[in-house]
Amino acid sequence: MDAFKGILLREQDRKVSSAVETLTRDQLPPGDVLVRVSHSTLNYKDGMVLNGIGRLVKTYPHVPGVDFAGVVEASTSPDWRAGDRVVLTGWRVGEWRWGGYAQYARVRPEWLVRLPDGMTAERAMAIGTAGFTSMLAVMALERHGLKPGDGDVLVTGAAGGVGSVAVALLAKLGHRVVAATGRPETHEYLAGLGASGFVDRAELAQPVTRPLQSERWAAAVDSVGSTTLATVLTQLRYRGAVAACGLAGGADLPASVIPFLLRGVALLGIDSVLSPLPERRIAWDRLARELDPALIDGMVQVIGLGDLPAYADRILKGQVRGRIVVDVNP
Ligand SMILES: NC(=O)c1ccc[n+]([C@@H]2O[C@H](COP(=O)([O-])OP(=O)(O)OC[C@H]3O[C@@H](n4cnc5c(N)ncnc54)[C@H](OP(=O)(O)O)[C@@H]3O)[C@@H](O)[C@H]2O)c1
Repeated sequence: MDAFKGILLREQDRKVSSAVETLTRDQLPPGDVLVRVSHSTLNYKDGMVLNGIGRLVKTYPHVPGVDFAGVVEASTSPDWRAGDRVVLTGWRVGEWRWGGYAQYARVRPEWLVRLPDGMTAERAMAIGTAGFTSMLAVMALERHGLKPGDGDVLVTGAAGGVGSVAVALLAKLGHRVVAATGRPETHEYLAGLGASGFVDRAELAQPVTRPLQSERWAAAVDSVGSTTLATVLTQLRYRGAVAACGLAGGADLPASVIPFLLRGVALLGIDSVLSPLPERRIAWDRLARELDPALIDGMVQVIGLGDLPAYADRILKGQVRGRIVVDVNP
């Protein structure tokens, strides 16, 4: 029996609707590796896809889910064998290609990463694309020269998925982390992840009126963009850097070049989707070693496929705390 469950998006009159449907393996796209998916996650981008926002999906019907973890069921690639435990993030899976919100996925071998020893599929998805992106951001800041003891590191959108993992990672690595959030009720949660101080996100979201403000941050991880990122640039210390990961507050950047010219600050772009395989392997290995599993477990809520539409709306409204794991098996 090769029938299985998945979320299928359909488009009619430019409106996108979703339903849990029964699919068969011959409906899956071509690819060398068939993966039995056990867990996926809900990322901000999934919220956009589920609501048909941003024309991220090229053709319908479509199975969303930009990441998944599971076990190889069958492979014609020499790189993978049945029984291998794998994780996938990015590569436009869940956007241009069918994704992880189904019990099976068929993909290209080069998109998969072996799950680090000891990391369960559920925990890998608790980290997911958001956590993987946080790791890439931390690695970029380290390449720029950031070391523990350099000074306060700001994390914006701190109670969200990228933000939560960034707080936990940076604190574990020995940095003093300041969390910017619009939800004071998450302070206790963020302190538990390792945040030592807090900033009200409204303070950072004001339009920039002065090209330079007092130097506050040795570095920053930003998942908000827009006026928030512009403000962070004006507050970075001399030769500090901000890793720009997201656009939860807007895709624009109303900034001036003065911080670059007078303080030599750096704006580091983070893209997780096309991150090359060697970088992926390093990032997942570090996530396995450097993130406290208990902290990860504490930032997770597990939902089923049928819960996704409601949670998609919540993540777009900034109402999700931490990470949402999707157990694709009812
Ligand atoms: N570059 C990449 O490869 C990559 C990968 C993954 C995600 N991303 C991007 O990163 C961003 C965060 O993703 P996520 O999965 O962490 O989403 P998320 O869980 O929804 O977190 C976003 C957080 O941003 C804050 N926020 C929301 N709306 C805001 C607004 N209007 N102004 C200021 N802050 C706002 C909220 O934090 P508080 O409640 O704490 O204020 C929210 O929890 C998204 O834009 C996503 O597309 C990029």
